[in-house]
Amino acid sequence: MRSLLFAANWKMHLAPAEARAYLQQFLPRYTQRPGREVWFFPTALALETVAQALGGRDDLGAGVQDIYWEPKGAFTGAISAPLAAQTGARAALVGHSERRHVFGESDAETRRKVAAVLDAGLTAVLCVGEKLGERDGGQTLTVVTRQLTAALDGVPAKALGALVVAYEPVWAIGTGRNATPADAAAVHRHIRSWLRERGAARPRVLYGGSVNLKNVAELLAEPELDGVLVGGASLDPVAWTQLVQTEAT
Ligand code: PGA
Repeated sequence: MRSLLFAANWKMHLAPAEARAYLQQFLPRYTQRPGREVWFFPTALALETVAQALGGRDDLGAGVQDIYWEPKGAFTGAISAPLAAQTGARAALVGHSERRHVFGESDAETRRKVAAVLDAGLTAVLCVGEKLGERDGGQTLTVVTRQLTAALDGVPAKALGALVVAYEPVWAIGTGRNATPADAAAVHRHIRSWLRERGAARPRVLYGGSVNLKNVAELLAEPELDGVLVGGASLDPVAWTQLVQTEAT
């Protein structure tokens, strides 16, 4: 059976009380399905609220949007992977395009973050993707390969097998312009073979970038997609409930 992961990236939205209200709408409407997981990435402030509301269910999970690689110490404003884990996170995004392009995160930093996430026993969701100029210049696979190599070279096969990679072309994030299923599939195949060559048994590769209720069925019809990472369209609990229950043909 095909298994699918739906990840909601709430970015800088939804305070704890709003997150609680959101899940009070989502949970009664959502029917658990075999082979389907739904993960939420709230702000660090709402992480505990979300993790507690999900109540330890296997098919639902909470994660953190970013971490600093040191486990603890004098790093004002930062949070670490062990702190996120103790607050209820099961997973952590690493290298989201907004971290890379708004906050200037480097490939070298993604590597330290992946290592810290794995050390804390969390699932790393590594985000990769090219900018518009790079796509137009035919550089998509070169950029994605560079990002994978920088973040993951040397990570043992077993850890690679548990990792999730999200392919999120920068030009598709928050723009309303999604990659076509065929565009996404070509990059997913490349990511999957890169991971398999390094011993990852069943790598999971998500697509992200302007996924919404209208285009999700068409995207999920592409078997290369193991799920989606969704920003804007995850903020409304009713629409999100519908999105995560979309039939995958
Ligand atoms: P979007 O964001 O769905 O709003 O395009 C996706 C993401 O940044 O993870």
